[in-house]
Amino acid sequence: MTHYHHGCRYMPDDFRRQWQNPEIILNKIGLKQGDIFVDIGCGNGYFAIPAAKIVGEKGTIYGLDVNEEAIAELNERAKSADLKNLIITASDAATTCFGEAFADIVFFGIDLHDFVEPSIVLQNAHRMLKANGKLGDLDFKKIHMEFGPPYEIRFSEAKAKELIERAGFITESIEDIPPYNYLIIARPVQLK
Ligand SMILES: C[S@@+](CC[C@H](N)C(=O)[O-])C[C@H]1O[C@@H](n2cnc3c(N)ncnc32)[C@H](O)[C@@H]1O
Repeated sequence: MTHYHHGCRYMPDDFRRQWQNPEIILNKIGLKQGDIFVDIGCGNGYFAIPAAKIVGEKGTIYGLDVNEEAIAELNERAKSADLKNLIITASDAATTCFGEAFADIVFFGIDLHDFVEPSIVLQNAHRMLKANGKLGDLDFKKIHMEFGPPYEIRFSEAKAKELIERAGFITESIEDIPPYNYLIIARPVQLK
């Protein structure tokens, strides 16, 4: 099995699809045709590519990742699939905002626990979301497993919820994505 993402060794898609279906998860968050979707820490596009197909020509996917190799791979994948609706940058989520109040959905794909300062990254997500937009945080349950992030750095649902709410969101739902993941959907509270 490929190890975790460090050094751009992402889990193979076919392995991952056995227990984490990107289309089903994006559908649960409510992604639809024409949406603007921001994928924070998009890696090589496990979610960004299916998202680009769902939003279609009238929608746009914004993606960023510090891993330049992964971004290059994602650009190749988009090209092979003839997808022209992705805007992808190799940059740090702590210092990158694609714009203000423009996104329908900001998504964290199994990575909120990876950021040095998740609260800053969440505040950037808040800035990017439209007032009626949604944040989706898919992550690994805090359980012992043979793959995925080390137990110590995993966020429990309660910990992730707390961080998200502290950054100015209200939790709409926390759903079990069996067997390994949970999905938090939250709405931005308008800051005065
Ligand atoms: C577990 S991988 C998930 C990748 C992708 N979301 C997926 O589901 O396949 C976590 C990603 O977060 C990226 N990452 C970590 N810290 C980051 C940061 N400060 N800014 C942007 N990306 C970051 C890593 O490079 C890695 O690609």
